[in-house]
This record gives sequence, C-alpha cells and structure tokens, in this order.
Amino acid sequence: MQTTSILFLLRKNKIRGLNNQIRSIQFRADMTNLLQETVQYACNHCITLLVGLLIVLFYRFCVAPFTVFKKLGISGPTPLPFFGNSIQNRLNPNIIPKCQMEWSDKYGKIFGVYVFRQPFLVIADLDMIKEIFVKEFPKFHDRKKLMKDLKKPYDRMLTIVSGQKWKDIRSTLTPTFSAAKMKQMMPFMNEAISILMQKVDRISKTGEIVDFHRWLQSLTMEVILSTAFGVKAETQTVENDPITELAKKAMAPHPLVGLLFLLPFGEHIMNSLQDPFDFEKILAISADIIAERTAGKDSTNAPRKDLLQLMLDAKEETGGEKIDYDDIKAQCLTFLLAGYDTSSTTLAFLCYELALHTDVQDKLRDEIDRMWPEDEESPSYDSLHNMQYLEMVINEAVRKYPPGFILQRDCMEACTIKGLHIPKGLPVMIPCYAIHHDPEIWPKPEKFNPERFSEAEKAKRHPYAFMPFGFGPHKCVGMRFALLEVKLTLVRLLKKYKLEKTEKTAVPMKFEVMFVLTCAPETVMLKITPRD
Ligand code: HEM
Repeated sequence: MQTTSILFLLRKNKIRGLNNQIRSIQFRADMTNLLQETVQYACNHCITLLVGLLIVLFYRFCVAPFTVFKKLGISGPTPLPFFGNSIQNRLNPNIIPKCQMEWSDKYGKIFGVYVFRQPFLVIADLDMIKEIFVKEFPKFHDRKKLMKDLKKPYDRMLTIVSGQKWKDIRSTLTPTFSAAKMKQMMPFMNEAISILMQKVDRISKTGEIVDFHRWLQSLTMEVILSTAFGVKAETQTVENDPITELAKKAMAPHPLVGLLFLLPFGEHIMNSLQDPFDFEKILAISADIIAERTAGKDSTNAPRKDLLQLMLDAKEETGGEKIDYDDIKAQCLTFLLAGYDTSSTTLAFLCYELALHTDVQDKLRDEIDRMWPEDEESPSYDSLHNMQYLEMVINEAVRKYPPGFILQRDCMEACTIKGLHIPKGLPVMIPCYAIHHDPEIWPKPEKFNPERFSEAEKAKRHPYAFMPFGFGPHKCVGMRFALLEVKLTLVRLLKKYKLEKTEKTAVPMKFEVMFVLTCAPETVMLKITPRD
C-alpha cells in the first residue's frame, strides 16, 4: 500500500514537472512569437516610429522652449526652431543693436526674445529698470549664466560668480579702483600711450591712412596686459607678439564653441571639453607672475604697483579670507575680457566722431590747452578730472555707441514690478542701445551732440536714461580705470594732432559684434596730421 502511494506521488510530481516544463516551453515560444511580431511590426512601421520620435524631440527642443512668453501673455518677435531670435539678432552683425530698436518700436517697452532656447524678458521702462537694478537687487543679484558648471577658476570671474562669493570678491576689489589707486595706474598707461604717439608721429609725416581702431586695440591690450597681468607685452610694436597672441585667443574662442550653444546638449559637451575657451595659457602667465611676486614678498625691491599688485595687496589687507590666489587669477582674465575691448571701442568711436565733427574736436583741443599747462609732460589726474567738455564728449560717444549694448540680470525670486509678474528663473535684458537711441529721451538720437550732457540738459532727464557702465551694485567696477585710460589717450593725441576723416572712412558707421557682447566699429580709417 505504501509503495503504491509512493509510486502514485512520484508519478504525480513527474506529471507536474512535465506540465511545468511544457508550460515554460510554451511561455518561451509565446515570448519569441511576441518578440518576432514586435520586430516585424517595428520593421513594418519603423518609419512611423522614427517620425514619432522625431516629433517628440522636435516638440521638446524646438517648440516647448518657445512657449514661455505666450503663456505669460507677453509679445515679441516670432522665434525660429533651435535659433529662437538669434538669427535676426546675431548673424547680421550690423543688425544686433538696431534690432533692439526695431523691436522696441514694434512691441513697446516690455517684450520677450529667445537667445537660442533661452528666453529673455526685455525691459526698457526706466522706472522698472531702477527697481530691478537697485531696490529689488536681492531678487536680481546675478546674471544668467550661459554655462552652469564652469570650471575653477573661471566660475570665480566677477562677471559670472554669484551670491556671497561675488560679494566677497567685489567688496575686496572695489577699493582697488579708487581714485587714489587709479593715479598709480597713470605711469603704466602713459608708457603704452607714448608708444602709440611714436607710431602716430610717423604716419602724421607720411599722410598714411590707417585703421586707427586696430591701433587703439593694440594700445588697450598692452595696457591691460601690463596692469592686470603684470607683463610687458610688445603688442603695439611686434607683430604676433606671443603674449598678445595668447590674450587674443582667449578673446576669440573657436567658432565651434558658438555652434555648441545651438545643440540641445551643447552645454554638457562644452563642460566636458578641457579648455573650450583657450583660457589656460593666458591664465598660466598671471599664475607665474603671482608666484614670482609672492615668493619675493620679503625682498627689498618694491613690486610694481599695477592692478595685479593692488589685488594682491587687497588680499593681504583683508586677511585673505574673502579672496584667494585663484580668485585673483580669475580677475586678471575678467579684466582682459571686460576691459580691453570696451576701452578700445570707446576710443575708436570717439576718434571717429571727432574726425567727423571738427568743431567738437577744436573746442575740446581748446579745453585741453587751457587745462594742461605747457610745462607738464603729461596731464595730471586732477586736470583730466576737471575737463568738463572732455567728459561731455566721452559721455556722448558712449551714449551713441554703448560698448556693452545690453545689460542683464537673472530673476532669482518671483516678483511683481509695476504690475508685471516676473517668474523665478526668467532672465531680464535691458536694451541699453535702444534706450540710448530713444527719440523721446534723446531728440535726434543719431546726431553726435555733446551738449546733451550739459548740467542743464542732464537735469531734465531720467537718471536711468544713460547707462553705459550699468547701474546698481553690479555696475562696472573698472569705470574709473577705463575713463582714465580713454581721457589720457585722447588728451595726449589731440594736444599734438588732428584726426581727419578720409574717403576710406565708413560713413555711416558699420558695426562688428564681438563674442563678449560688445559692439565695435568694423574699421575707423583715419588720417592723423600735426595740429596747426
Ligand atoms: C569704456 C570702457 C568700459 C565700459 C563701457 C564698460 C561697461 C561695463 C558694463 C555695461 C558692465 C555691466 C554693468 C551692469 O551689469 O550693471 C560692466 C561690468 C564690468 N566691468 Fe566694465 N566697462 C568698461 C571697462 C572696464 C574695464 C577697463 C574693466 C577692468 C579693468 C572693467 C571691468 C568690469 C567688471 C569686472 C564688470 C563686472 C562687475 C560686476 O558684475 O560686479 N570694465 N562694464
């Protein structure tokens, strides 16, 4: 009986095992069939699937990003897939600053634009700008970063760094640009200007017409390398000077870098590149000089008091807690990027307008003669400061041609300004060029007229109608440096020479837009002759 039950159980288990095996074979066969059918279906419909996938990707990257302003009920120029409004804005360099004017005319003082996929709220209302820059600064304390994960030390550049670190660096550097400290910059500037004067002297005798913009670029490059990097480059005299070439490379990254911004994952690709902007070689120069100076700290030879040294001193004076050597290196690069092109551009526009307006040039020369005594080799800091007409002429040049033609802030906290709701994360763009050319504020804006900056005229205007150096806590930290360099160069030039328009001078001016979002003249072809 027991044996029979055991046999029965065994048979039963065997049958169950067999059943399981059959079921599993059947299951596998079903799955294989399903897979085969799916593959067959996919093969039959692969084009449909591909198209579906492309539609999803197209929507994700080409349509969805461009719905921000529609949702907010804000008008603006129609964006194109991928490019946003960058085609209208970027590819034709002559159009960029003028584009702002056209759009302001068409859409009013508030509208939306897309720089590639990034939306920007454009605000040209002066009271709102004041609120954003000053009163609501805590909600707008950073600029929008084009790249989020910048490597060290680039993430410490004053134009990029955010929050407390920006405060630390800015508060340490601000005294470095005081009037007293700027006086110490004059010998370095004068040294470079003397080289320019020698070159000008040569062409003043031959009557050669030159693109003076290029000469001014070499001048301001030499000044910034000499002061911010502490190196004596021969930018103005030696073609392809090696240090200058490194600095120029950092100023003009490879065109492929620009192209990467177009791609959906461009930022990630850029982050994975070792040195996409070619900054490392020029940074190595400031690193070497810093190492040299800090090693020789106790030596009896006093270090040259250039901008770099003033930063090193500021680090020591503040106990080194707020900034370190990496921060200082990053600022050398910042000053190159923010200070070289803006200053040469301002000088180039000035020389261009003075060549076109000889009456203004003569009036300015009269002031220079009055304020700069013959027996002084170079004008003093105070005499430059007291030349009121010079100030008016420079103001009018940067009014008509603001080198930084847009200002920008990121909205860090949702807020409502003059009834307009600005959501968190939406960056704001201030169309400086369009505001400086608004006929309601500046009658006949295309006319070069320094009288607009007489005390009486200034008093009639909204204080935020003129913003060549920005406003609020982020205002240009190098303004005093730039104005000193521009004044000193112009005054020394006009004291001895006359700037003359030629048949090669482009009238009206043609613009070139630089990588760092400044606008410059394409060429400034001038003849420079000895004054009568
Ligand atoms: C005529 C020449 C110059 C013009 C027109 C100019 C204009 C400007 C403008 C419009 C800004 C943005 C301000 C804002 O967002 O509110 C700025 C920022 C800045 N500029 Fe200048 N700049 C000039 C020269 C210089 C020079 C020579 C240096 C350095 C030596 C310099 C260093 C900076 C820095 C570091 C910032 C960022 C400040 C911050 O965010 O805290 N600039 N400049």
